[in-house]
Amino acid sequence: MMNDGVDAAEVFPELRTKLRVEFSDDDDPVLIREDGSAVETWRENYPLDERMTRAEYNHTKRLLQIELLKLQYWVKDTGGRMVIVFEGRDAAGKGGTIKRFTEHLNPRGARVVALGKPTDREQGEWYFQRYVTHLPTAGEIVMFDRSWYNRAGVERVMGYCDQEQYDRFIRQAPAFERMLVDDGVLLVKLWFSVSRAEQRTRFIIRQVDPVRQWKLSANDIESLDRWDAYTKAKVEMFRATDTEQAPWTVVKSNDKKRARVEAMRSVLARFDYSDRNPETIGSPDPRIVGPAATLLE
Ligand code: ADP
Ligand code: MLT
Repeated sequence: MMNDGVDAAEVFPELRTKLRVEFSDDDDPVLIREDGSAVETWRENYPLDERMTRAEYNHTKRLLQIELLKLQYWVKDTGGRMVIVFEGRDAAGKGGTIKRFTEHLNPRGARVVALGKPTDREQGEWYFQRYVTHLPTAGEIVMFDRSWYNRAGVERVMGYCDQEQYDRFIRQAPAFERMLVDDGVLLVKLWFSVSRAEQRTRFIIRQVDPVRQWKLSANDIESLDRWDAYTKAKVEMFRATDTEQAPWTVVKSNDKKRARVEAMRSVLARFDYSDRNPETIGSPDPRIVGPAATLLE
């Protein structure tokens, strides 16, 4: 049984066959069918034939994490305020990427904000109000694991907000972000893009893996049947909020390891921090990370 008493096999008929999860790489478990073949849904609409190897990932990730630390010192020394928004569909890999971003940062000065369902009190406030409380002060980096964009995604699709609230959000979001940027906030908006079949595989792995079961929510299950509604919501969201002052960056994330390092590269590439190592940063792979217009399906 899953949360809320749902029968998992009803949702994922695949579970009636013998499926197991192979954990040779704990970061990237693989789903194995009864006949021993691996489920390779990551290949769906993916521009590369190989996933990043563990060795390359470990090596590159470490070097980029050192650069992220330099970025943090720079933010601290210059009194900068940085906001990184992590968005994307369920299971796109936002949380996993944030974990690697923060792994070696000094927690004093780098925070993750992951807000839950709004309380009654928050429901009565200006929509952006509860996010504003968490914005950085001088010297801080704040990473939003989901953000005000909930209103354009889950709230819109699941009907947690009405049309009027949605329209107001779509009008206010660019204005809100313009105010932040105008005030000197360094705003980065990352959209993690997972394909349909790969999202499903990740949900099944969450169901089968005891340490991932908490990640599978009732909303996740709902989203299976709402793929198209989420796509529509995403397109509308980009149309309204991919602005010059606060553009979106899309990260293709079917290969989680590559997505994590390319997301780091993309953030690092845009700031001229002290003691920067351009060789390590290189240039973000345009097949994996870039402006919304170039990568959104
Ligand atoms: P997550 O993907 O963050 O593990 P869920 O899939 O359950 O969690 O929910 C997705 C997002 O929807 C969360 O940010 C949550 O706060 C938000 N959410 C859930 N229920 C509501 C609600 N009734 N009204 C507004 N937002 C909600
Ligand atoms: C998500 O995108 O739903 C979370 O980041 C979980 C994950 O790390 O895949």
